[in-house]
Amino acid sequence: MNGGPASGSPRHFIDLWRHDAATLRAILEDAKTRKAARQGWGQGRPDLDAPAAGRTLAMIFQKNSTRTRFSFDAAIRQLGGASVIATGSDMQLGRGETIADTARVLSRMVDAVMIRAVEHDDVEVFAAHAGVPVINGLTNRSHPCQIMADLMTYEAHRGPVAGRTFAWIGDGNNVCASYIHAAARFDFNLVVACPDAYRPRPEDLAHAPGRVEVTSDHRAAARGADCIIADGWVSMGDPDHEARLVAFAPYQVDEALMDLAAPDAVFLHCLPAHRGEEVTDGVLDGPRSLIWDEAENRLHAQKAILAWCFGAIA
Ligand code: CP
Ligand code: NVA
Repeated sequence: MNGGPASGSPRHFIDLWRHDAATLRAILEDAKTRKAARQGWGQGRPDLDAPAAGRTLAMIFQKNSTRTRFSFDAAIRQLGGASVIATGSDMQLGRGETIADTARVLSRMVDAVMIRAVEHDDVEVFAAHAGVPVINGLTNRSHPCQIMADLMTYEAHRGPVAGRTFAWIGDGNNVCASYIHAAARFDFNLVVACPDAYRPRPEDLAHAPGRVEVTSDHRAAARGADCIIADGWVSMGDPDHEARLVAFAPYQVDEALMDLAAPDAVFLHCLPAHRGEEVTDGVLDGPRSLIWDEAENRLHAQKAILAWCFGAIA
């Protein structure tokens, strides 16, 4: 299947809730297999099957990025393909060309598009007008690629996520929303501890009935949890910086909070971390932290997502 354009409807990867459990599990297992198969290889050497040979990935960034940008670029190369990257402001998008027209044009030139967008709806509109797969590289509403890497990381260290309890400490934000969607598909329990004003959206909670508990008590959430997760208190584009720092101050993940979790509990953070705000150096750099594996696994997870988009995974 290498080379020419993918046939049929494009396989978009926009939100985890849109995919069934078997598809998401197949992507996760492909990520693990690809990672294991290239131990000791140079980062630039393509995988033997090179499922993206002859294909180009366009990446559009309307917000800053380090991990998503470099991991997708490395990912498409390791799959045998090529990339082109632009920021929204470099493009005519920044001067008012519509999302729909941009999607129509890029679909004639590349084989897939990854977008980090300010507005989630713009990714939906882009996909609706694209003739090639569209991948959500983070919006104000969700960050599905991140959670695939997170679950891969947890399973590499602690085994299957099914039946485990994850505790999200902090903002009910975009990353939290994708965790909620994942809980329903991967059969783990999620406790979200946040101030009342920053609870997850009901629309997201509706995707995981019976799987998610929301509380304002971060100690109760952490108690006995198998995994503690944090994210910045102020996401890109949030207007209420000062109010957030006040509201979230009690929700810092420190070693005392980690000590309430299960004895073999681990810590995850999508990064970038705001050291001394949502999490202490002691936790980030401590023995229970998996954050560097987690960052690396963005590469492996995204390769599997791309491989699925290109039809290389059933
Ligand atoms: N975690 C994550 O998406 O990082 P970047 O913002 O650096 O891409
Ligand atoms: N919630 C954060 C995640 C950054 C990767 C943000 O949207 O800024």
